[in-house]
Amino acid sequence: MLVNMKEILMGVADSNTAVPGFNVYGYEDAMMVIEVANKLNAPAILMSNKDAVLHMDVKCQAALYRAISENHNIPISIHLDHAGSYELCVKAIAAGFTSVMYDGSQLPIEENITRTKEVVRLAHSCGVSVEAEIGSVGYDDPSINAKAIYTNPQEAKIFAEETGVDALAVAVGTLHRMQKQTAEIQYELLEEIQSITSVPLVIHGSTGLADRDLTKLSTYHVGKVNIGTALRMAFGNTLRKEINNHKNEIDRIKLFEEPMRQVKEVVLNKYKLLGW
Ligand code: G3H
Ligand code: ZN
Repeated sequence: MLVNMKEILMGVADSNTAVPGFNVYGYEDAMMVIEVANKLNAPAILMSNKDAVLHMDVKCQAALYRAISENHNIPISIHLDHAGSYELCVKAIAAGFTSVMYDGSQLPIEENITRTKEVVRLAHSCGVSVEAEIGSVGYDDPSINAKAIYTNPQEAKIFAEETGVDALAVAVGTLHRMQKQTAEIQYELLEEIQSITSVPLVIHGSTGLADRDLTKLSTYHVGKVNIGTALRMAFGNTLRKEINNHKNEIDRIKLFEEPMRQVKEVVLNKYKLLGW
């Protein structure tokens, strides 16, 4: 059943589990997430992002993800990750996303608060949940111009209280797009943040986390860990092998079979590490 993300995160943040939010790019990976979640009787969070909506617009994405979420008796949230504008959030909400992230992490805090509040006002009036970011997670990719700044705990408290967001992304040691599990979580900083905030916390760039850190984080006040690159690696690298091994195959449905299986294995492994 479709729900907003707040409904999924309520309770999870205080338990010894966290929900993996997976960046998905279409039917093939989204379906694998739902199949695994269904098998584990766990909630699922399908996350589109700003790159994905350039490839397939928000209306098509919402229709696709809503259609494949029907007839499953688990809570499923369709979330837009890292929206950089109010306008994109409006489009996503109108299209049927049940949750949005407004990312003002590169803005001065006052502006981030003002803009996030505007999104929260609209989204909450439509029953849609909102995530935002304080501090900046940054990218393990020099071509992307985004600062990486650890979250200041006092700023996190003020930001959460003033905006009324349902989930708060914090920068505590990860970077986006890491292809190796070498991120170093600053647990003292995370503890300080969670001791003065009550909103469920979100860890972005979680492909970069070692297995033990995923499991450890699920015991903190973390509701969701975002995972994208791990699935792109599983799908892309396996597809490359399949194409090389079947040089005469032109049917993409056949070429996608093994990449989908590999994505499914990664999804299952991440759920297990997060306590499901
Ligand atoms: O916005 C993306 C998510 O935070 C996932 O990051 O691709 O580094 O796992 P990742
Ligand atoms: Zn992210």
